[in-house]
Amino acid sequence: MSTMSRTVLALGLALSASAAKNSIVAPTGAETLTVALLGDYGWTGWQPLPLDFCNTATPKLQAAGVEIPRALQNDCDAGDRQAISNATIEETRTARYIEKVCLQKNCSAFISVGDNFYDSGVDFTSEGIQRFYEGWADMYVGEAFDGKPWYQALGNHDIVAGQAGVDFQTRIAPLMEDRWYFGNDNLPYYTYDLTGSNWSATFVVVDSDCFINKYQDNSSVYNTDYVISCHKDTNTQVEFLRKSFAESDATWKILQIHHGYISSSSNYTELQPLIDVVRENNGVVVNGHDHCMAHYQYQGMDFVLTGGAGYAEAGDCNYGVPLGPYAKWLGADAMQAANGFVTLDISYESLNFEYYARDMKLKGADYYPVKNDMKPSYNFSVTKHAAKGSH
Ligand SMILES: *[C@@H]1O[C@H](CO)[C@@H](O)[C@H](O)[C@H]1NC(C)=O
Ligand SMILES: *[C@@H]1O[C@H](CO)[C@@H](O)[C@H](O)[C@H]1NC(C)=O
Ligand SMILES: *[C@@H]1O[C@H](CO)[C@@H](O)[C@H](O)[C@H]1NC(C)=O
Ligand SMILES: *[C@@H]1O[C@H](CO)[C@@H](O)[C@H](O)[C@H]1NC(C)=O
Ligand SMILES: *[C@@H]1O[C@H](CO)[C@@H](O)[C@H](O)[C@H]1NC(C)=O
Ligand SMILES: *[C@@H]1O[C@H](CO)[C@@H](O)[C@H](O)[C@H]1NC(C)=O
Repeated sequence: MSTMSRTVLALGLALSASAAKNSIVAPTGAETLTVALLGDYGWTGWQPLPLDFCNTATPKLQAAGVEIPRALQNDCDAGDRQAISNATIEETRTARYIEKVCLQKNCSAFISVGDNFYDSGVDFTSEGIQRFYEGWADMYVGEAFDGKPWYQALGNHDIVAGQAGVDFQTRIAPLMEDRWYFGNDNLPYYTYDLTGSNWSATFVVVDSDCFINKYQDNSSVYNTDYVISCHKDTNTQVEFLRKSFAESDATWKILQIHHGYISSSSNYTELQPLIDVVRENNGVVVNGHDHCMAHYQYQGMDFVLTGGAGYAEAGDCNYGVPLGPYAKWLGADAMQAANGFVTLDISYESLNFEYYARDMKLKGADYYPVKNDMKPSYNFSVTKHAAKGSH
C-alpha cells in the first residue's frame, strides 16, 4: 500500500469515526429511568427584522410583484417581536431551572416536542449555525445536560425555512453535536426505545406540522415546499406509527408530537388518525405548541402538554380556567403561565409525570409565584400498560 493510500485510508477512517452520529443514547437497565420532557424553547439569538423593512419596504416590494420569503414574513411577526426580550430571559432562566431540577432528579435524557428555534427555524447558513449554538448547544450545558441525548422533534417554527430547515435539524445537527438525536434515517419521523431492568418504552416521533390544514393555506408562513409535500402523504407517518407500535411489545408506548389534539386554546382535530392509533395501543401523548404546561384526559387517554420551556403564555392555557372536565391541571393563572418542564419516571409499575413550574421573578415582580419550585406543582401516574403489539 502506498503512503498516499495509507493516508487516504487513515483520513477516511478518521472522518467516518468522527461522523458516527447518535453515539449518545440513554442508559439501559435502570429500575426507574427519569427523563425530562420539554418544548417551545429556542428563542435566544433570534433577531426580528428592522421595522423599516417590515412596515415600509415590504409593501413596496409586494406592490412591485416581489415575493417575500416565508421566513422573512415570519421574522416580522409583531407578537413575537414583542415577546423576544422576555422570551430570551425566560429561556435562559428556565434552562438553569431545568438544570437544578434534573440534578436533583437525575434526568438521563431530554425529550423535545419541537419549536427548537424561533422564529423561523434554522438552516445550514452562518446565521443558522450561530443560532444552533446560542439557542441550544451552549444554552443547555452543565452537569445535568452534558452527555445526555436529546430526542428531538419538529414544531411549526422549525419548518418555516422549508426543506432546508428540516434537513438542518434531521441531517446536519446530529453530525454537529452528539447529543442531538433525530433517528437514523434522516427523516422528520422516527422511533426509539428506552429500556429498563424489566420494562421498555417505545417512543414514536411524528411531524404533526404535516397534518395541520391551515398550513396548506398559501397565505400561511408555514406553507413551504416541505409542508406542501408532506401534507400530501400524511398516511406515511400514520402507518409508521401504526407499524412501530404494532411491532413493539413494550410496557409503555408514547407518541411525541408538537401540536395538541386536545387543548385549551386550539384543538387540532386533524391529528385524529394518529390519536386513534395511540388509543388502540393504550398509549400516552406528549405534545407542546401551547406555551404552557397542562394535563388533559380525553377519550380515555392522557395528554401531557409541556410547552413551557421558553415564552409562557397564559392564554394558551385559557388563563388557568378549565374549558371542560378533560383539563385536569393547567399551569397558568389569570395573568401568567408557568415556565417549566415535566419529568417522567419510567418503571415497570408506572409512568410517573411530575410538572415542575418555575417561581418566575422578573424586574422585582414575582409574577408566577411557586412556594417551592424544587417540588412538582402537579403530578399523575399511568399504571395501565400498553397493549401488546400485533406484529
Ligand atoms: C442516574 O441514572 C442512571 C440511569 O439509571 C444511572 O446509571 C446513574 O447511576 C444515576 N446517577 C445517579 C447519580 O444516581
Ligand atoms: C420489576 O423490577 C422491580 C425492581 O427490581 C421489581 O420491584 C418488580 O417486582 C419487577 N416487576 C416485574 C413484573 O418483574
Ligand atoms: C395563493 O392562491 C391564490 C388563489 O389560488 C393565487 O391567486 C395566489 O397567487 C397565491 N399566492 C401565492 C403567494 O402563491
Ligand atoms: C377542545 O375540545 C374540547 C372537548 O370537545 C372542548 O371542550 C373545548 O372547548 C375545545 N377547545 C377549544 C379551544 O375549542
Ligand atoms: C415582560 O415581563 C414583564 C414582567 O416583568 C411584564 O410586565 C411584561 O408585560 C412582559 N412583556 C411581555 C411582552 O410579555
Ligand atoms: C403527587 O400528587 C399527590 C396528590 O395527587 C400528592 O399527594 C403527592 O405529594 C404528589 N407527589 C409529589 C412528589 O409531589
